[in-house]
Amino acid sequence: MDSFGRQHNYLRISLTEKCNLRCQYCMPEEGVQLTPKSELLTTQEIITLARLFVKEGVDKIRLTGGEPLIRPDVVDIVGELYKLEGLKTIAVTTNGINLTRLLPRLKEAGLNAINISLDTLVPAKFEFIVRRKGFHKVMEGIHKATELGYHPVKVNCVVMRGFNEDEVLDFVDFTKDLPLDVRFIEYMPFDGNKWNFKKMVSYKEMLDTIKQRWPELEKLPCETSSTAKSYKVPHFQGQISFITSMSEHFCGSCNRLRITADGNLKVCLFGNSEVSLRDHLRSGASEEELIQIIGAAVGRKKKQHAEPALMSFPLCQDALQNSPNSKRW
Ligand code: GTP
Ligand code: 5AD
Ligand code: SF4
Repeated sequence: MDSFGRQHNYLRISLTEKCNLRCQYCMPEEGVQLTPKSELLTTQEIITLARLFVKEGVDKIRLTGGEPLIRPDVVDIVGELYKLEGLKTIAVTTNGINLTRLLPRLKEAGLNAINISLDTLVPAKFEFIVRRKGFHKVMEGIHKATELGYHPVKVNCVVMRGFNEDEVLDFVDFTKDLPLDVRFIEYMPFDGNKWNFKKMVSYKEMLDTIKQRWPELEKLPCETSSTAKSYKVPHFQGQISFITSMSEHFCGSCNRLRITADGNLKVCLFGNSEVSLRDHLRSGASEEELIQIIGAAVGRKKKQHAEPALMSFPLCQDALQNSPNSKRW
């Protein structure tokens, strides 16, 4: 628990800095500078840390990246996490390229929640935004996940003016016959992604567009720590949500901690790494010492990462100064 009474039961572990796509809003064409392998957490180190966090109350772990499904031992990691008593959710956020191939084994190993990134339903636009091929693989991955019983499969759609804001209603239709939760995400500034206000589409604008087409849209209740506000067209199988990272932040109910691929603990997406858990592990810190180090970092967590009253869009100042990049998801 931090000094504002927020209980952190959700840990995001980045398994790799690498990615097999190059989304324009996330990574430059040449990729990001990679940390040498010897400095990345080993499978065993990941499991040791995960065990500690679970012992201290974490009940949900999300594997992220880069692209987590390109790490060769991802199925083993899920299998080891599954053995941790008290861990209720093992989730992954993936670009979906390797999903169809890996999903049966991941499911068998204990993976129980999947978020898939997909920003457009038009193959040519997909190739433009991710700078690679693979649209059909991602679509196949989404279908496969629903067939294997992941309900809902969350589809993350970053909305950018001039690129895909005209597809919002098509994405709503995508939820008609499939148990999806399409999550429209406000576009955020990242290191070098050419973000600007004009490209950002606020959730209120998206909601207006959707309500004009579907006046009967229903608001759904949501968990306090959720980053998403959810809605549903009454007779549709799936639902839609908005992740309002820019226009309405959710710091007040933040329950997340992060471990980067090279073993740094981050208590906020925006902000620097607080402490190298890898270094402490490798220098032989005991379990108690590690718990104390983690507790101290959580204790230093700020109330929020920007002062909303100062800005028309709360996160902009801080986000622009402290932009995360794909190495730090
Ligand atoms: P669920 O666990 O299914 O709710 O997923 P999630 O939203 O926690 O994770 P996901 O990896 O699918 O991230 C989706 C989007 O949430 C990202 O694009 C970010 O915009 C946003 N997000 C995730 N974590 C944070 C965070 O700690 N702070 C902020 N501001 N945004 C975040
Ligand atoms: N703004 C908003 N969301 C982003 N993501 C990556 N970059 C950005 C950005 N600049 C999303 C991905 C993925 C999730 C982890 O973060 O699409 O679904
Ligand atoms: Fe890869 Fe995800 Fe970044 Fe796209 S957003 S380049 S899929 S890490």
